[in-house]
Amino acid sequence: MQEKIIILDFGSQTTQLIGRRIRELDIYCEIYPYNKFPEGDEGIKGVVLSGSPFSVYDEKAFKVDLSRIVGKYPVLGICYGAQYIAYSGGGKVEPAGSREYGRAHLARIKAGNALFDGIDEGSQIWMSHGDTITEIPGTFERIASTESVEIAAYEVKGANVWGVQFHPEVYHTVDGTRLLKNFAVGICGCKQDWSPASFIETTVASLRSQLGDDKVVLGLSGGVDSSVAAVLLNRAIGKNLTCIFVDHGMLRKNEFQNVLHDYECLGLNVIGVDASQKFFSELAGVTEPEKKRKIIGKGFIDVFDAEAHKIKDVKWLAQGTIYPDCIESLSITGTVIKSHHNVGGLPERMNLKLCEPLRLLFKDEVRRVGRELGMPEHLITRHPFPGPGLAVRILGDITPDKVRVLQDADDIFIQGLRDWGLYDKVWQAGVILLPVQSVGVMGDERTYERAVALRAVTSTDAMTADWARLPYDFLAKVSNDIINKVKGVNRVTYDISSKPPSTIEWE
Ligand code: XMP
Repeated sequence: MQEKIIILDFGSQTTQLIGRRIRELDIYCEIYPYNKFPEGDEGIKGVVLSGSPFSVYDEKAFKVDLSRIVGKYPVLGICYGAQYIAYSGGGKVEPAGSREYGRAHLARIKAGNALFDGIDEGSQIWMSHGDTITEIPGTFERIASTESVEIAAYEVKGANVWGVQFHPEVYHTVDGTRLLKNFAVGICGCKQDWSPASFIETTVASLRSQLGDDKVVLGLSGGVDSSVAAVLLNRAIGKNLTCIFVDHGMLRKNEFQNVLHDYECLGLNVIGVDASQKFFSELAGVTEPEKKRKIIGKGFIDVFDAEAHKIKDVKWLAQGTIYPDCIESLSITGTVIKSHHNVGGLPERMNLKLCEPLRLLFKDEVRRVGRELGMPEHLITRHPFPGPGLAVRILGDITPDKVRVLQDADDIFIQGLRDWGLYDKVWQAGVILLPVQSVGVMGDERTYERAVALRAVTSTDAMTADWARLPYDFLAKVSNDIINKVKGVNRVTYDISSKPPSTIEWE
């Protein structure tokens, strides 16, 4: 029985972070919408109630019946979670002053309290709430304050219920991980035995029993998620797994051959399909970004489907879907946004059952599992790359010649990042081929050629991103190399836009 902490999501932006912090403690946890508590799961060791964009007084505020949880498991309420527990017990919650937003410091911690074990007064915390608890019911006891908040944390005596007004999951709360550990280990009794090795062992066993002798197909993209999923499945079912790697012609320079070679070295049963001509002809003359995406998405499904049909008796389609793709996140209106899949529509069209062995992992955990499986580091630390590939980095129509120009420029940039030790310092990087030509001079000749933009960003999840502050000397070298070596380019620019309001890709 896998022991776990359940996190009930009341719509806070930091709910996933709570999950990540707990997983970083080698404790398994799962996130559920606030109203979908997995009753009957015998592995549950404790429950966390997240924050929320709502006030407990809002008509639309998310409410749960606490009697199904309190008394059965240890409970930790965070921000709204804490307010909701206090309010439901007869306490008072009121709008907070602006002083209570941002950094604060713990004061008057109750000595010997299990939640604050090893955490000293003065420790910095992060407050981010519109409301504050001003009165707690009689059975509650205040266990910490801050300079301006009287009830920063409480305990419900004898009930194994705890509440904190601040956010232990955010980086600015210096002892936040310690507090979550005190809850999950000290109070709930979790063993901290969730590790990549234990994940591989249990997943391989469950894949074997789920799949038996069935045949499985999996689409490889060259990215970390699908590659790790493939290696894991290969360990479980060996040759019953067939991987299909489609070259749509918009991959990086030599990437198809290199990655195919890596896959073969990993012992995967992989079919490489060069479908670039099909994609080039379907994309000819298309300039509209969404149309390009649709053509590539549909073309990929067509090619994949045709290849998969050549294999007899396939029953399953495997995908490298990961946890952030699956968590049903709550929007402020209360509607549940459905989980999405990497290749929408493919399982339905092929009439196959879906197998997603990584669906409970965060990205960094996928990488740890990949390392544990012995995969090469360059596959594991590879930057994200969009499914439609260079097609969304060529502004305007796509021709094989433009792809070649972009591949050459991109190769110089990416190889340069590696050579200068910068590759792992940025989240993602690439070159964009602009639909402009400009005048230059080379030797004694006037040139009138293309301009490219370099894009490199720092990020943690691609939801927000900032342009990477790459050294000037590095940019100078890359610019020089591109202009001298890539025929057809005579100008290099560097994109200094952040997301939002810009996006990472240009299309
Ligand atoms: P944006 O441009 O929206 O990109 O800031 C965020 C992240 O998503 C990647 N991306 C895609 N990935 N299919 C994909 O598989 C796509 O159509 C697509 N568009 C953007 C992008 O590279 C970045 O990592």
